[in-house]
Amino acid sequence: MRTILVVSLLAGALAACDDGASGESPMIEFEPEPVVDQSVDAAIEDSAVIDAGPMVDAMPPPLPPLPEIIGPSAAVDSNPADGVVEFTLRASQVTLPLADDLQVRGYGYDDQFPGPLFQARVGDEVVVHFTNDLDEPTTVHWHGLRIPAEMDGSPRVQDPVRPGETFEYRFTVPDAGTFWYHPHVRSNEQVEKGLYGMFVVHEAEPPVFDAERAFVLDDILLNGDQIPAFLQTHPEQMHGRSGNVLLTNGKVEPAPGAAQKGHVERWRLVNVANARTMDVSLEGARFRVIGTDGGLLAEPYETERLQLAVGQRYDLEVHYDSAGTARLISHVRVIEDGAVVLRPFTLQTVEVAAGEGLPVPVALPEADPPARGRPIRTVNFEFDTVASPISGQRWRINGLDMPEEPIFEFQKGDYVRMNLINEANQEHPFHLHGQFFEILPAGTPETEQPGLKDTVLVPGNSRVSIFARLDNPGRWMAHCHILEHAELGMMVEIEVLDTE
Ligand code: C2O
Ligand code: CU
Repeated sequence: MRTILVVSLLAGALAACDDGASGESPMIEFEPEPVVDQSVDAAIEDSAVIDAGPMVDAMPPPLPPLPEIIGPSAAVDSNPADGVVEFTLRASQVTLPLADDLQVRGYGYDDQFPGPLFQARVGDEVVVHFTNDLDEPTTVHWHGLRIPAEMDGSPRVQDPVRPGETFEYRFTVPDAGTFWYHPHVRSNEQVEKGLYGMFVVHEAEPPVFDAERAFVLDDILLNGDQIPAFLQTHPEQMHGRSGNVLLTNGKVEPAPGAAQKGHVERWRLVNVANARTMDVSLEGARFRVIGTDGGLLAEPYETERLQLAVGQRYDLEVHYDSAGTARLISHVRVIEDGAVVLRPFTLQTVEVAAGEGLPVPVALPEADPPARGRPIRTVNFEFDTVASPISGQRWRINGLDMPEEPIFEFQKGDYVRMNLINEANQEHPFHLHGQFFEILPAGTPETEQPGLKDTVLVPGNSRVSIFARLDNPGRWMAHCHILEHAELGMMVEIEVLDTE
């Protein structure tokens, strides 16, 4: 059996090292037609007059192109209008080309793996024409996007899309940041088989870096070239499915990236594994954390190691201070001689060329610190597990195993403290749909995580408190993002009532 290996970027997406992000690529000059008067009043008047000649289109100049992101190939926006991006997305069975000598039957979006990288600008309307060509029902959940509940892909709100059917997702993206999408029906199987992709919402004025890279991090469990049957073993029911092959952007060993000494890049990371918390570091380059689930941080910070619970994202600002090979490393727990040790695996290499390039300071836009307030209410989410001789292991929140009705009701705008209480050994990455929260620091690396989040790791035998501002009305799922736990019961809903 193949051991765990590492990844890098899709070779085809890699261009010369100095191609950089195209944030400054030549603006298309807007040439006004020979015009009479572009004022609104004049346009209205003109339109009222017959024989006024062709109407003058008082369109604003086109927006500069979005930064180019090196990583999974990007979806093509079929709508030429500014302010609207329109994509198609089709789920079907595909062959996952994990390596030259390793092809695995799985699922893909748009015949690719990972699914296409979606990009929009904050405030854009997004239209996705989704088709389900699988032979089972599915939905698309837009993880982290604070969109209307009907568009969120929750099978409690949206009837799953049946085989051969279509659904139009349409929403406005209110926040800039790094997000992702995946199914919310039998998610432990559908995500593991390959249904996931990154969704980048760019800032209104994106900071300009020498390059931007996307890293979709996964692990997959293989038996030869087969994905084994699901939930068959006790360890999988207890801890979720951990893979034996690490994948970066769908590849076991992705092609190395290319960069230049002195350059500064933006890296976007998402952990889409079923269960594995990724523990990452960077060798041969230095980074600071500039963004998290909810977008850019008010105060970026430096760290050596970064824990990415499943579902979480981080944006890094990567500096190449010297030529050589930079490596993104995942520190993986493996059993060697009966003992658990941490072994480093390379996820991605970047060859850094010598160069004159002086570090260009990147000006990050001012991010607003999260709005704090006094929590008006405190609720507890208590996690536990029970073994049943009939159904195997079940996972529960507040003693409930996938209840039909929301377990808490709030009013829109409520500021709520949620105590996440875990009295067992297994960790749980807790995810709340449709809202952001802040993690109340508790002195552990898992909880020293500033910024807005939608997912937080609750380690074994611990309590973590979060503060959520519930601004987005609707019925929202709250669940463990270890997908086996979620599908084995650890999935509830809350309801945010719109009182206006
Ligand atoms: Cu990323 Cu309810 O999930
Ligand atoms: Cu869990």
